[in-house]
Amino acid sequence: MSGSILRVENVKKSFGGVEALKGVSLEVGEGEIHCLAGENGCGKSTLIKIVSGFYEADTGTIELNGQRFSRLSPTEAISQGVQVIYQDFSLFPNLTVMENLSINMELMSKRKWVNYARMRRTATEAIAKIGFAADLDERVENLSVAEKQLIAICRALLYNARIIIMDEPTTALTKKEVRSLFIIIKKLQAQGIAVLFVSHKLDEVFEISERFTIFRNGMNVAAGNTDELDNKKFAYYMTGRNFSEEAYSSASISPIPTMSIRGLSSRSFYHDISFDLFGGEILGITGLLGSGRAELVQTIFGINAADSGTIEVNGKKARIRKVKDAISLGIGYVPSDRITEGLFLPQSIGRNMVVSGLTRLSNAAGFLRKDKIDEEIKSWITELAIVTDDYEKEVKTLSGGNQQKVVLARWLANDLKVLILNGPTVGVDIGSKYDIHGLLRDLASKGLSIIIISDDLPELLECCNRIIVMRDGGIVKELNAPETNEAQLSEITTGIA
Ligand SMILES: Nc1ncnc2c1ncn2[C@@H]1O[C@H](COP(=O)(O)OP(=O)(O)OP(=O)(O)O)[C@@H](O)[C@H]1O
Ligand SMILES: [Mg+2]
Repeated sequence: MSGSILRVENVKKSFGGVEALKGVSLEVGEGEIHCLAGENGCGKSTLIKIVSGFYEADTGTIELNGQRFSRLSPTEAISQGVQVIYQDFSLFPNLTVMENLSINMELMSKRKWVNYARMRRTATEAIAKIGFAADLDERVENLSVAEKQLIAICRALLYNARIIIMDEPTTALTKKEVRSLFIIIKKLQAQGIAVLFVSHKLDEVFEISERFTIFRNGMNVAAGNTDELDNKKFAYYMTGRNFSEEAYSSASISPIPTMSIRGLSSRSFYHDISFDLFGGEILGITGLLGSGRAELVQTIFGINAADSGTIEVNGKKARIRKVKDAISLGIGYVPSDRITEGLFLPQSIGRNMVVSGLTRLSNAAGFLRKDKIDEEIKSWITELAIVTDDYEKEVKTLSGGNQQKVVLARWLANDLKVLILNGPTVGVDIGSKYDIHGLLRDLASKGLSIIIISDDLPELLECCNRIIVMRDGGIVKELNAPETNEAQLSEITTGIA
């Protein structure tokens, strides 16, 4: 390694009773692409916040460009060239691209007047650095997630970044967008900028990084050159467990359908959809963006109505006009964006779990039974292995994977017949992913019918017994998962051999 841009040594950090970091170390060389990996809740984001001066470490040192800091302020971190691209990108949605890029610079310059010509110049230079053809006068709220991310990267470059830290930058991106992000990361590297890339996806780590560091439970477990890693080692380092995922056995599938859909059509979204969903079955639905799969399950859950066709539940024609109708038929839906759709972030972890089962947890007079509620919350925390020391804390204090489990717990607390999950393990680390898959299999074997919408082809092949592929609003193929491999599934989904 030439010089190192960042050296973290023996950093510890606790939040109340939770020891988020128990003495971690990390070294990133100049111009190096380094991957920081680890399961949900292992302390990755906490370390990033320490390196950017947002949190103060309890003990340990941070060295930036050879200079040691035991206390690092946000301003010092920025002047040492540390820039963080957070998951929300910290952009102003109602300002234009130009304003977002240059407003801080303009404010920092302490000049009396805002100079639009100078702002435009600054912004133009910023986007030119990564060859991004953005419309400077477009409002940021009209941009795609990938474009917002590029704006955040451009803005980082304006501060003479020497290391750009990206906290799980690929979570909300399509495969194509991930590819173009990787091209940008290589461009940054060519300009001598180091990138610390947080991910728990093995294929990404392999593709982009030269060196890696893995944390588990707030401690270092491994670090080295990425080319020395393989699938098995990675999974083991991440979790401390060895995995062998078995395909879902359809032994317990009932021949009687829980749900039958016939000739369902909705405007331009999807047309003439028919399929059965059997008791104890895990049915996968996949398809590219615009295939209509998301709109289809939204209809089943009463979010948007179909124009024609029928849905039968337990042999009876169902009228699903509203979400309430779907819920009373025993249909549950876990959306893909758990943060905005699935959780009440300021509410406690426990409250988020039981919110939909409150009638069941009340006594005859309608009073909530605190003892029953506590008992139920505790049993879900154990069953789903949710990592928290106190379920009275706000749900937003949980790591991403653990938040996902809370959403699941909420549905499971109801008496469900059909559970629909859209991207059940997006942004979830491999250990939690394995747990969630195991849990779904377990639920299915007890008779629950499950629909999984996913882009993750290995996930579909491992979890489902049947997979429906949609394209342009129609079903193009129905596959038996055990008889299908990833290449075939990919070919049918994309239509490209
Ligand atoms: N502000 C906070 N208050 C209390 N606990 C916190 C706070 N921030 C983080 N934690 C806890 O510290 C631990 C590490 O969390 P952190 O967000 O760093 O994990 P992570 O590795 O980024 O996880 P993920 O992959 O899910 O994003 C978790 O147990 C988390 O609940
Ligand atoms: Mg994190």
